[in-house]
Amino acid sequence: MKFAKDFLFGGASAAYQVEGAWNEDGKGISNWDVFSKIPGKTFENTNGDVAIDHYHRYKEDIKLMAEMGLESYRFSISWPRIIPDGDGKINPKGIEFYNNLINECLKYGIVPFATLYHWDLPQTLEEDGGWTNKRTVKAFVKYADTCFKAFGDRVKHWITFNETIVFCSLGYLTGGHPPAIENNPIKYFQATHNVITAHAKTVSHYKELRQFGEIGITHSFTPNFSVDNKEENIFAAYHANQYNVAWFFDPVLKGTYPEYVVKQIKEKGWTPNWTDEELEIIKSSAEKNDFIGVNYYQPARVIKNDNQQVKMENSRENSAGAPGNVSFDGVWKTVRIDNGKYTKWGWEIAPDAFLDGLRIIKNNYGDIKIYITENGLGDADPIIDEEIVDVPRIKYIEAHLRVVKKAIEEGINIKGYYAWSVIDLLSWLNGYKKQYGFIYVDQKNNLNRKKKLSFYWYKHIIETRGEDL
Ligand code: BG6
Repeated sequence: MKFAKDFLFGGASAAYQVEGAWNEDGKGISNWDVFSKIPGKTFENTNGDVAIDHYHRYKEDIKLMAEMGLESYRFSISWPRIIPDGDGKINPKGIEFYNNLINECLKYGIVPFATLYHWDLPQTLEEDGGWTNKRTVKAFVKYADTCFKAFGDRVKHWITFNETIVFCSLGYLTGGHPPAIENNPIKYFQATHNVITAHAKTVSHYKELRQFGEIGITHSFTPNFSVDNKEENIFAAYHANQYNVAWFFDPVLKGTYPEYVVKQIKEKGWTPNWTDEELEIIKSSAEKNDFIGVNYYQPARVIKNDNQQVKMENSRENSAGAPGNVSFDGVWKTVRIDNGKYTKWGWEIAPDAFLDGLRIIKNNYGDIKIYITENGLGDADPIIDEEIVDVPRIKYIEAHLRVVKKAIEEGINIKGYYAWSVIDLLSWLNGYKKQYGFIYVDQKNNLNRKKKLSFYWYKHIIETRGEDL
């Protein structure tokens, strides 16, 4: 089977991880500009001040993408570049930059796929309570409206938020991301609800504008599987899926939060301050979503947590289902499985679990269109005779693309695949050591770009529409 003509082979990035130019051309300060400069918060205190300088080198980068045959580029727009103080004046230079970037994509026939929020929040809003404050919801809708009106004639694919669970749980439970608050379920649930509300309002607004493009949200998808058939572990995995999957997917695709979680958080006093009007807009906007974006890296292997340790580790590695993580409510924990394959950063490589996960999405949410908006291997790439021989990345993406193919054959409605990442970039907490790209960026040598082995491999896959997979 070949992938259909309307299936998009893409690659992804995010503004803070690639752009740099953190204080140029009127850009406002983001929460990440501040947080990453607090000593000890990131690996070797790396930050995105320069990143890979995509802000100045986007033409060179997009040219390389075109040479690879990339059909679509998923990038994110930096909110503080567009509206420096969050909800005040628009920065014309910010609009100009994204106009140029979008036009450059279109010059080569690359479909621009824009994410409105990939974690860099204007610092002014962060200081006013960030996502726990409903002012941020209102500000987001205004910012989204600005982007739709500025770019919507050419951008026909929009993602509101990237991975709500990640920025909210790291922001309010583990403290690994800004605003670095630990163990605060009340703030966590409030923030998640505010984001879901902002998404719902934005989707409705986009449809009112009648720009005839498509809009959805991207969720991190870490399906939870019990390690065995013991009842208590099956229950632990069910509980994990309710809190970490259904809490995010249900309101977007079904219009309501899962009863199981709603009941429990009520008993615990964690219910967000939500209004009937917000719950109504969540309900009425659900059917307006055109797609769901799915970021898949690994599954979580779950057992019941028997000891009383409830504090989650303050690190990225222990946040996405990676082994050694205890859930914030202490009910379950993740473990390494025997015979499991793991990356150098301890993430499980499990394409089979990807297929099972996609089947679960179809079972629970029907035929909703799916884009795989991220998938890829974080590695310290081998360099042999000055060539970047990233064979493990090729193997990883190959195995996961095979799954996508199989899933489509089974009738799962997947319309595109975006490798994370199109080019090497800054890992939020792991610096530049953990690479994901098809294009290497030489940190020691003027940020020079170089094609990796995977570059040629992906080019071939796209040219042949994955026929050999
Ligand atoms: C996803 C994010 O969670 O994982 C990306 O959307 C991120 O922005 C990617 O870079 C990989 O994470 P890490 O921690 O390995 O860089």
